[in-house]
Formats: sequence, structure tokens, C-alpha cells
Amino acid sequence: MFVPLTANGQNLGAVALGLNPNEVVLNTTALTRKVTITVFIAIWVLVILGAVFNALTITHPIKALLHGVRKITAGQFSTRIALPMGGELGELLDGFNAMASQLEVYKAANIEEMKAANKELKVAQAQQQSLIATMADGAMLLDARGCVVLANPTSQRLFRWEARKLVGEPLVNLLPESLLMDVGEALQQVLAGEHATRDIRCSFGSPTRTLRIVLVAVTDPSSNALKGVTVTLQDLSREVELNAAKSHFISNVSHELRTPLFNIKTYVETLHDLWTQISDEERSEFLATANAETDRLTRLVNDVLDLSRLESGQEFRFEPMELRPALEQTLRNYRLNASDKGVRLLCEVEPTLPRVQANFDLLLQVLDNLVGNALKFTPSGGLICLRAYLWPDSCPVPDVSTSATINDLTSRMPRLRVEVSDTGCGMNELDQARIFGRFYRAENTVHTEQGTGLGLAIVRNIMEKQGSVPKLVSKPGVGTTFWFELPLEGSDDDELALLAERVQADT
Ligand SMILES: Nc1ncnc2c1ncn2[C@@H]1O[C@H](COP(=O)(O)OP(=O)(O)O)[C@@H](O)[C@H]1O
Ligand SMILES: [Mg+2]
Repeated sequence: MFVPLTANGQNLGAVALGLNPNEVVLNTTALTRKVTITVFIAIWVLVILGAVFNALTITHPIKALLHGVRKITAGQFSTRIALPMGGELGELLDGFNAMASQLEVYKAANIEEMKAANKELKVAQAQQQSLIATMADGAMLLDARGCVVLANPTSQRLFRWEARKLVGEPLVNLLPESLLMDVGEALQQVLAGEHATRDIRCSFGSPTRTLRIVLVAVTDPSSNALKGVTVTLQDLSREVELNAAKSHFISNVSHELRTPLFNIKTYVETLHDLWTQISDEERSEFLATANAETDRLTRLVNDVLDLSRLESGQEFRFEPMELRPALEQTLRNYRLNASDKGVRLLCEVEPTLPRVQANFDLLLQVLDNLVGNALKFTPSGGLICLRAYLWPDSCPVPDVSTSATINDLTSRMPRLRVEVSDTGCGMNELDQARIFGRFYRAENTVHTEQGTGLGLAIVRNIMEKQGSVPKLVSKPGVGTTFWFELPLEGSDDDELALLAERVQADT
């Protein structure tokens, strides 16, 4: 049948519809459609199967490989790929795993090595730090601009920098003003490369301290460029003081020697030149004076020798002994002189005295000086008394469990106190403070009595060696009492040595 096609009243054509009456043609067409659909479906199934196979055998291992490589890159050397693959891909995965285990072994070895090196570095660092921190000298490190990088505790103490911020500060801003000129200039020269090292001495502060300051440039060995400056500070104050004391002592000794030598020479010369012109009386007077001056010279030389022996660091033996024999010998030595002068010499000693730890010769020297002085400065009709007693007489046993300091303990240590008192001229407070110094003699007694002014310096020196300090009370016109203390037999040697060190450091 035909269907006409019209639009807007216009005839466009016709559509012809009909059935093919040929059955063969109809069957062929149906078969063709079925085959086409089957082929289409089969192709899609094959494509999907291919994709799945591909995903299982290629994409998955490559992804795993990529993941593994990322982990290795991130330092996770324990990563392994566990895929049962064969062929070239399998070889690639095996290679990857082998590489990962090699890296892991290498890393473990490296870590061990680094740990050991680190430990060594830390030990060396700690050693250096403790060395710098405990050095008796001051040490500082400055950067190439002269700013502080490091300053050890000694340098901080020397300049009283304990509470200041130091790191990063220019050294010249921190130094005391009196050092600025010298140190600033030297530092500038080292920083500018004009000098590789500078060694200067300067003084500052009050009381004056003398420092030796050594500045050394620190350079990079390869480029020779300045990296910083090390500064070492040596406190020379003690040496300077000792040197001054030594020079003072030598000039004093020379001066003291000159006077008797001059006197001897004058009298001997007069006797020699004018022997016939002077009377017998004058001759014997001149000879007596020369003789007395020779005695004075001998005393002086002996005292100087005693003092230098005591200060030479010679070790003296202190051993257990009775005090009484030393007292008796001293009394024997002076009894005659005392009775000649009309001075009474008494000895008041407790009947049972404990034994002491002492050196007999040194003890005798101390007693000899003190009793000699007492007799020298006590007028006729006076009294000299030697006493010895236990001090403190009752000694509480120190409780070691409490936090008692050594000072507390030693101050309670029983000792034997020896006193020499006289009813002599006495002395004022200024003299009392000075008489233990070398060559010091109180003004009012110098011209009338013989002496070297070294006796009490010797006494003090001897007592220092025993960890004790001689003391006195005196009143002009009334009298003087000197006393000192001796450790008892069996006193702790270490404690005594410590005391002696402390006493010597304090004086
Ligand atoms: N017992 C004393 N009484 C008064 N003054 C004393 C006494 N002992 C010492 N002095 C004073 O101390 C000074 C120093 O004594 P010392 O060192 O023994 O020297 P020296 O006896 O040679 O003068 C004496 O010169 C004296 O002025
Ligand atoms: Mg004397």
C-alpha cells in the first residue's frame, strides 16, 4: 500500500509499505541479524576478558612496583613485593626485592657506624666542655667580628660577668674600661689579620688584678679565612704579689744587714786607724759594740735562714710528743736572764696533759721567740707566765649525721692551748695587727731593744704549718698574752692538712 506525504497542503511524495512474499529472503535476513548480534556480544566478552587478564598480569605488579619504589625513596628499606610472577616481570620484582634488602643491610651498618661515631663525638665534646669549664685559666671564643661565642666560668668570674648575657655581644662592650685600650687594640689587630697572635699583660680593678691575655686567630686551613679568635686569660695577680713581696723582703734584708755591717766597719776602722790615740776604755767599748753588732748580724742571718727554710716548702715531721720537755727547756734557757733582769718566770701547766702532735725543734723555736719577746719587753719586777691547758676542755662528739661543716667539726676539736703572758710594755692595736709581719717592730721598742722583727713572722709561719694561728691580747702599759694551739696526738692527719692549707690560704 502507498501512503501519500503532504505538508501545508503540498504533496511531498508517498511511502510504499508491503510484505515480501519470498520466504527464503525472509529467513536469510533473520539469520544475518542473529549472527551480527552474537559476534557483537562475543567481541565484548573478549575485550572484557583481555582487560581482566591485563590488569592481573601487568598493571597490578607495575603498580606494586611503583608503590615499592616510592617507599624506598622515602627510606623504608624493609619494603618487599610479594607477587608470584614469572617471566621478565617476575625477574624485575625479584631484582627490586634484592635491591631493597641490600639497602636495608647498608642502612643498618650505617646506623651502627653513625651511632658509634656519634657516641665518640659526644664523649669528645663532653671532655672538651668539662676541660674548658674547669680550667683554672679563663678561655673565650670570639667570632670573626669579635663577638663572644663562648666564655668559660673562670673568665666570667674574672670579669664578674656571672649575671650578664655574653653570647653574641662584642667583647669590647663587655670589658672593664681600664682594659679597653690595650685589649681592644690587640683584638683589632688580630681580627684585621695584622697579627696571628697577641700576648699582652694588663691590670684592672681594685684590688688590682694583673692579667696575661693571649689572643690567637682561628683560621680555616683551606681558605686561610679568619673564623674567629680564641682568648685565654691568666690571672697573674698572685705571682705579681709574690714577686713584690720577695723584692720587698730582699730590700728589707739588705737594709737590715747594712746597719750592723756599717756599725762593725765604723768601729773596727776607728780602732784600726786610731788605736794609739784612744784610751783603753774607749777601745774595749768599741770592741764590745762591734761584738754586739756581730751578734745582731748573726741573729738576723739566722732568722732569715729560718724563715726561708720555713717558706721553702720543706716537709716537717709532726709526731706525738709530750709538751712538758719543750716548756722546761725554754724555761732553762731563760731562767738566768730573767733573774738577772729581776723578772719572775712561772710555769702553770695542768698535771696531766695529753700528748700533742708536733715537731720538737719548731715548737722550741716558737716558745723561744715568745718567751724571748716577753722577757725583752718586760721591765724589772715583772712577771712572765707559761700556761698549757686543754681547749675546749670538754669536747662534744661531733654528730656526723647532721650537716655540720668541717669548720664546725674542727672548731670543736680539742687542742692543747699554750699561753705566754707578761706584764710588759704591751702594744697598741695598730701594732698588734702588724707585728706578725716581717721586719715589723713597734716604734717605741725598736730603739731600745735588740731584735730583727722576724721572730713573730717565724712563729706565725710555724703555726700555719700546724693549721693554727697565733693570737694575742695586749694593752699598753699592762702586758701581753700570746697563745697558740697544738693538735692532740691521734688527730686526723687529713683534717690537719686541710686546716693547714686553709690557714695558709687565708694569710
Ligand atoms: N711580749 C711583747 N710585749 C710587747 N711588745 C711585743 C711583745 N712581743 C713582740 N712585741 C712587739 O712586736 C715586735 C715584733 O716582734 P718580733 O717579730 O719578735 O721581732 P723582734 O723581737 O726582733 O723585735 C717587737 O719589736 C715588739 O714591738
Ligand atoms: Mg722577737
